[in-house]
Amino acid sequence: MKEMEPWWKRSVVYQIYPRSFMDSNGDGVGDLQGIISKMDYLKKLGIGIIWLSPVYDSPNDDNGYDIRDYQTIMQEFGTMQDFEQLIEEAKQRDIRIVMDLVVNHTSDEHAWFVESRSSKDSNYRDYYIWRDGKGAQPPNNWGSIFSGPAWEKDELTDSYYLHLFSKKQPDLNWEHGPLRNNIFDMMTFWLEKGIGGFRMDVINFISKDEKLPDGEIHHEQGYGDGSTYFMNGPKIHTYLREMNEKVLSRYDVLTVGEMPGASTEDARIYTNPENQEVNMIFTFEHMNLDSGPNEKWDVRPLELVALKRNLEKWQHALHEVGWNSLYWNNHDQPRVVSRFGEDGAFREVSAKMLAICLHMLQGTPYIYQGEELGMTNVKFDSLSEYRDIETLNMYKEKRQQGIAHETIMSSIYAKGRDNARTPMQWTSNGGFTTGTPWIRMNTNTSFINAEQAIADPSSIFYTYQRLIQLRKIHAIITHGSFQLLLPDHPDLFVYKRQTAEEEWLIVNNFSEKTNQLVWKECNLPQTKGNIMIANYDSPKLEGDMVEVRPYESFVIAFERGK
Ligand code: NOJ
Repeated sequence: MKEMEPWWKRSVVYQIYPRSFMDSNGDGVGDLQGIISKMDYLKKLGIGIIWLSPVYDSPNDDNGYDIRDYQTIMQEFGTMQDFEQLIEEAKQRDIRIVMDLVVNHTSDEHAWFVESRSSKDSNYRDYYIWRDGKGAQPPNNWGSIFSGPAWEKDELTDSYYLHLFSKKQPDLNWEHGPLRNNIFDMMTFWLEKGIGGFRMDVINFISKDEKLPDGEIHHEQGYGDGSTYFMNGPKIHTYLREMNEKVLSRYDVLTVGEMPGASTEDARIYTNPENQEVNMIFTFEHMNLDSGPNEKWDVRPLELVALKRNLEKWQHALHEVGWNSLYWNNHDQPRVVSRFGEDGAFREVSAKMLAICLHMLQGTPYIYQGEELGMTNVKFDSLSEYRDIETLNMYKEKRQQGIAHETIMSSIYAKGRDNARTPMQWTSNGGFTTGTPWIRMNTNTSFINAEQAIADPSSIFYTYQRLIQLRKIHAIITHGSFQLLLPDHPDLFVYKRQTAEEEWLIVNNFSEKTNQLVWKECNLPQTKGNIMIANYDSPKLEGDMVEVRPYESFVIAFERGK
């Protein structure tokens, strides 16, 4: 008998970055009651799942990705009661809450770390990765992802601890059984509250090569790149299977692993249901295409051909093996309309095109707050208006290396994470808080805001709403095969989805030029097609040709075999 289809295959996830979503008490920081107050908005959009970025107690060195206590809610966000109410309110609207599981590291203020550093004999010593230095040097040459070395010397015991992120985010030692059991108990605690699953922060970093060898040095002034020794490390599959067996298999939940550096080969293992690891992963490959090979700040123009080839590879690799996640945005990425679209005259139309292009692929789509409004990147004049630790550390390091202020700022404008973290735009004058927001609002709230979007039936919001509905109704979106057409076309991203009964053609123009599409090249069934969704009135058919206008996008469904 065919197994029942998992519920998360036909649902769409909406990511909330709580700090920037909605503030209910005027302190300038978003909170749980704020989210509760916007539940009907999310229901209207039609999403079935919320991924909540961390809401746990944290000193906020990295906005909650540095957890001090896994089982307490961050005071600024509310209380456990608020959290329980949120689950309940969501449930009433058929929405499940997926929590962020940040277990590659904790905060250095977590009780385990406080204990661990206190003495070499502490019972918690092995919860973290401690090593002696090499003379006056750290144990190896690895650099931190947030700049500087990946090791911090702790004078208390005269040894170093590993931190792949900030020095306030020490890495946990997954080799240690008691630590793993504590994590599994903590996961159970949240699952018992009725949550709908976990998004697992850099989960493919948790198994390090125990020898911790030096990494390759890519540029003169740089540190060693340790990624070969901690990404998809030696015991990663063992740990994920143990987590599955001890915790996840007992619940019907969604799991998505954030996995930088995972190839399609890795993903086939991680997401094949037979292996019982995770349901899907976040790949970074398509997000790295507009950067140079060694770092994201080295900004390059996107080549559409490379993007198409990459998405094609993922579509094929996981078809009928595992499952894809589909995303353009999250709290770490710049706003896609400013990045792969056009955020001036073509903002609305290009935002809709990007939505259609992504949501017609096979996988589970993720919408990041504000994406459904076409929110854009920001350019703050002064560095002091930026909040993100990655950005601030990088700026300092590059200035020390003699790189010009203007050069660094242009990278920040293109790639900085604060682009995604400005407050959600609810009304024409903001509507996020009655106080002073923790980070500046974008200046374009007068024409980009939820109130206007809802009042306008042709807004980007309704394109997303329609896409979510289409996925619920048409099995071809979930199950159909994928075929890329015109792979080398520099502006058009054209693909087909197919089942035995149907064939859908998806046409997207990634350029402000009008492009001609010759029908014959699409090898379509000889039937009349139905337009399922479009971002212009209706496609401009001219005999054997379609004129695909700037950033135009449409989907035509054909029946097969008739
Ligand atoms: C990935 C998260 O998405 C990012 O925001 C965070 O800074 C790092 N992991 C470290 O937790």
